[in-house]
Amino acid sequence: MTTNLSQPNLKQLVGVTAAQEVQSGMIVGLGTGSTTAYMIEELGARLAAGTLREIVGIPTSFQASLLAKEYGIPLCTLDDVSKIDIAIDGADEVDPAKNLIKGGGAAHTREKIIDALADLFIVVVDQSKLVQKLGSTFAVPVEVIPMAIAPVTRAIEQLGGKPELRMGVKKVGPVITDQGNMVLDVWFEQIADPANLEKTLNNIPGVLENGIFVNVADIILVGEIIDGEARVRKF
Ligand code: 5RP
Repeated sequence: MTTNLSQPNLKQLVGVTAAQEVQSGMIVGLGTGSTTAYMIEELGARLAAGTLREIVGIPTSFQASLLAKEYGIPLCTLDDVSKIDIAIDGADEVDPAKNLIKGGGAAHTREKIIDALADLFIVVVDQSKLVQKLGSTFAVPVEVIPMAIAPVTRAIEQLGGKPELRMGVKKVGPVITDQGNMVLDVWFEQIADPANLEKTLNNIPGVLENGIFVNVADIILVGEIIDGEARVRKF
């Protein structure tokens, strides 16, 4: 797909493009973030126009459920369905093997549950999210049960990570997730083996989930500018 935009909004372009992959009757995992917000808005527009019918969304966050309600997308929970046909979600980093870092919106726990259950998981990013190695531009978000924040911090430091408690914006104190937990953003000098680090972090007592997604993504849609033109590339 190629388009001419005077001021290209690559997040909008890739979000709207991904929404075209949803077909009538599908159960759809609704991702979190500014890119997927465009996808949710487009699904609502297609429902209103009658070009899409009878989809049901499963939100990955409170933000996604608010947007779905705003744009008229019916919602359900994992208790109501036996499968998810497609999930569309953003990412903070994507490596050439389609491994991801997610959790910029502190929603990675629900995102991993829903994205991993989907028959088809499409990731939507602009070109700034592409990296050769995970951890080069973004820390790994780790959701921690509050009473375990001190021992988990020490355990992560022993692994060589530098954890920082994520603080709120327009709220004093730490960010609290949709599950009522806290987030440590952990910098690692390098992440040589993302699969191993994903498991190791989740093995620390008190850790609920971390933002490394290995072998979960099926398709990456990248919004990029090539020769002055905004377009979407798929890999
Ligand atoms: C939220 C996420 C988001 O998908 C990720 O942070 C990308 O967000 P955006 O599309 O706003 O750049 O993982 O937890």
